[in-house]
Amino acid sequence: MIADEIRQKFLDFFKKRGHLSQPSAPLSTDDPELMFTIAGMVPFKAFFLGEKTSPAPRLTSCQLCFRTNDLERVGETSYHHTLFEMLGNFSFGDYFKKEACEWGLEFVTQELNLPKDRIWTTVFKEDEETESIWKRLGIPSHRIIKKGEEDNFWSAAEVGPCGPDTEIFFDRGEEFGCGKPNCLPGCDCSRWIELWNLVFMQFNRDSSGKLSSLPSKNVDTGMGLERVTTVLEGVSDDYKTGLFTPIYQWLKEISPVKKEEKAFRVISDHLRALTFLLGEGILPSNTGRGYVVRRVLRRAFRYGRRLDLREPFLYQGVPVVVEVMKNSYPWLSEKSEKIAKIIRNEEESFKGTLIRGIEILEGIVDELKKKKTSAISPQDAFKLFDTYGLPLDLTEEVLREEGLRMDRAMVDSLLVKHKERTRKEFLERRKIFLSKDKTILNQLKMKIDKVRFEGYTKEKLKTSLIGIIKKGSLIDKVKEGEDAKFILASTPFYPEGGGQIGDRGKIFTEDSQAEVMDTQKFSNNIILHYVKVKRGEFRKGDELTALIDVKRRKKICRSHTSTHLLQASLRKVLGKGVKQSGSLVEEEKLRFDFTHPYPLTRDELRKVSFLLNEKIREDLQVLTEEVSLSEAQQRGAIALFEERYKERVRLVDIGGFSKEVCGGTHVSRTGEIGVVKIISETGVAAGIRRIEALVGEKAFLWMEEKENLLREVAFKLKTSEDKILPKIEEIQENLTK
Ligand code: SER
Repeated sequence: MIADEIRQKFLDFFKKRGHLSQPSAPLSTDDPELMFTIAGMVPFKAFFLGEKTSPAPRLTSCQLCFRTNDLERVGETSYHHTLFEMLGNFSFGDYFKKEACEWGLEFVTQELNLPKDRIWTTVFKEDEETESIWKRLGIPSHRIIKKGEEDNFWSAAEVGPCGPDTEIFFDRGEEFGCGKPNCLPGCDCSRWIELWNLVFMQFNRDSSGKLSSLPSKNVDTGMGLERVTTVLEGVSDDYKTGLFTPIYQWLKEISPVKKEEKAFRVISDHLRALTFLLGEGILPSNTGRGYVVRRVLRRAFRYGRRLDLREPFLYQGVPVVVEVMKNSYPWLSEKSEKIAKIIRNEEESFKGTLIRGIEILEGIVDELKKKKTSAISPQDAFKLFDTYGLPLDLTEEVLREEGLRMDRAMVDSLLVKHKERTRKEFLERRKIFLSKDKTILNQLKMKIDKVRFEGYTKEKLKTSLIGIIKKGSLIDKVKEGEDAKFILASTPFYPEGGGQIGDRGKIFTEDSQAEVMDTQKFSNNIILHYVKVKRGEFRKGDELTALIDVKRRKKICRSHTSTHLLQASLRKVLGKGVKQSGSLVEEEKLRFDFTHPYPLTRDELRKVSFLLNEKIREDLQVLTEEVSLSEAQQRGAIALFEERYKERVRLVDIGGFSKEVCGGTHVSRTGEIGVVKIISETGVAAGIRRIEALVGEKAFLWMEEKENLLREVAFKLKTSEDKILPKIEEIQENLTK
C-alpha cells in the first residue's frame, strides 16, 4: 500500500539526515492548552520551549493527530478529517530555514518524484530569507506567494511556541482549477494541494499575546499523509486512497444504499478515529475527552441512517480499519475485539434511547426547510430533550449541519422551569390517581392476600396478574398504548418507601410487553405497578414475567447504602444529636435531612466526607437480618422510632459501622459504591440541615466536570491550573491600579 511506503520513505529520508525517529505519541495529551494531539509537534512542545531537552537535536515522526474543530465539515469535503497522520521533521536549535527548505524540496521531487514545475510555495510576507532560499533552490518568483499572518504564521494554541511558516503546494493542473483570476495556492478549489507546512518555531506567545524569542531557533514541519497519498495514487480525493477504500468496500457490502458520498466519508473518517481513540483507552462518557468520543460515535451512527443502516453496524468496521493500519500500528490488532465491543454497546444504547428522537427531529428539519424557517422552536427542542431524551448538543449539531439554528438560552430557561415543576407535578398526579382509585383499593385490601415482595433477592420472576386498575375501577384487560396499574401475586419491584424511589422495569409475556414507570405501595399488602402497555394486551389472570431495570436498581442501592454511611458518619463527627428527619434516595443521588443546630463547618464536612469514603474503601459487608423490634433497639440500631414499625423489622448492618432499621435495598459490600461526593450542605428549616450527595459514576463525572472547568478557567486565564490563584490576584491588582 502506498501510504505504508510513504511513511517508511519519509522516516528513512530524515533518519539518513541525522534525525532520531520517534513513535507516534498518544492522542490524549496532558497539555493544559490542548485536549488532544492536534499536530506532530505537540509531544515536543517542552523541547521547543526549552523546558526539557530533546533526546536528540533532530527528531522525525509520523504522528497520529485528532482534531474536532471542523467536525461539521468532515464529510463535506474531500480533505477534512478528524484523525490524520502527520509526517514531520523537527530541529531544536540545530538546523533552520535553509536545510528545512532544501530537504523539503528534495523529498517531494526526488523521493516522491513529483515534477518540480508543479511545486509552488507560500511564505510569510516579512520573511525575505525564506523567499530567497526558495529562489536559490530553483522555484521561480511567480510560484512563491507572499501571505500574511493569517495564512503563514502557525501556533498550536493561543499561548505557546509559534512562528512564521512556509508551505509547499502541489499544482494538480489548470483543469482542476476554478478559473477565477485569483486562483492561487490556498484557493478552496481542487487544483492546489497543500502538502507540507514548514514552521520556523522561534517565538513564544504569552497570555497577553506578546511574542518573545524562544531559547533557540527551531523547525517544526508537518506533511499530511492522507493528502500526499492522494497525490501519489493519482486520485481526486483523500477518501479514494488505499487508506479509505477498504472501509468504503466494507460499507458498500453491508449498506443498502451504495451512493451517499457524505455519509461514506463521515463514517469512514469517524470509524478510524474511534478505533484509535478507544484503542488508546479513551472511553465514551459525558464529559471531557470521553464526550468528544461519544459525539463522534453518535455522529457516525447517525449518518448510517442515510445508508439505511439502522441497527448497530459501526463495530463491524473495526477489523477493517485495523487491517489497513496495523503495519504501522501493530498494537491495534490485539485491541480490535475490545474496541468493537465498546462501539457496539454505545450503538445499542444510542439506538435504544435516541433514535426515535432523531427521527422526529429529522421530520422537524424537513418542515423548517419547507417553510423556509431557520430556527427550531425552543418548545420543540425542549420536547425532544424531555420526551425523547435527545441531548441538546445533539439537536444543535444536527440543526447546524442542515444550516439551521436553535436558541439555546431559551431552551435552557425552559429546562430550568421544567425541573422545578416535574417533581411537584408527579406528586400531585399520584395523589389524584390514588384518590380516584382509593375506593376500589380499599375494597381490594380486604380481599387480596399480601402481595409477596421478593425484590430483596430477585430481579426477575414469573408471577400472575391478579388485578388491573384503571380510572378507579377494576378491569379485565388493557390494550397497547393504554396506562393502568397492575397488581401482581408477587413482585421483584420495590415500591417507593423509606425515602427510596420505586423501581422501574418491564412486565411481559410472550406476546405482550408493558413498561413499568413507577412502583408504589397502597397499603401493606398492595403494591401498584404503574404501567404503560407497549405491545399486545394483558388480561387479568395472565401468567407473566416481571423484570426490574437492574442497572437503575443497582444505582439506587448504591445511594441507599451511602445514605446509611452518611448518617453514621454524621453521628460520629457531630454527635448523637444527629437524627434523620427525611431522605430521598434516587439513582446515584441522595438527599439527607437531619437535626443539627448549625451549618457544618468546612472541616466538619470534610471529616464526614472522608469517613464515609473510607468506609467505602474498607469494602464492608452489608448484612440484613429480620429481628424483633426490641432486639434491634438493644443492638443499638437507629430507627425512626416515632414511625410505626411492625413487630419484626429488618436490620441493615454495615460492618458494625452503621446499624439501621430499614426496608430498603442495599449493595452487598460498600466497595460497590465506588465513591460519594457531598455537593451541598444547606438549611431547610430551623434546626434542620440538608446534605445532597452524588454517588458512584455520577460523583465521578461531577468531579471530572469540575476538573474540566478548572482546566478551562486556566485556559481562559492563559495559565496553568496550579497558577490560577496568583493569576487572579495579579488581575485583581491590575484592576485596582
Ligand atoms: N505544526 C504545523 C502544522 O500542524 C507543522 O507541523 O501544520
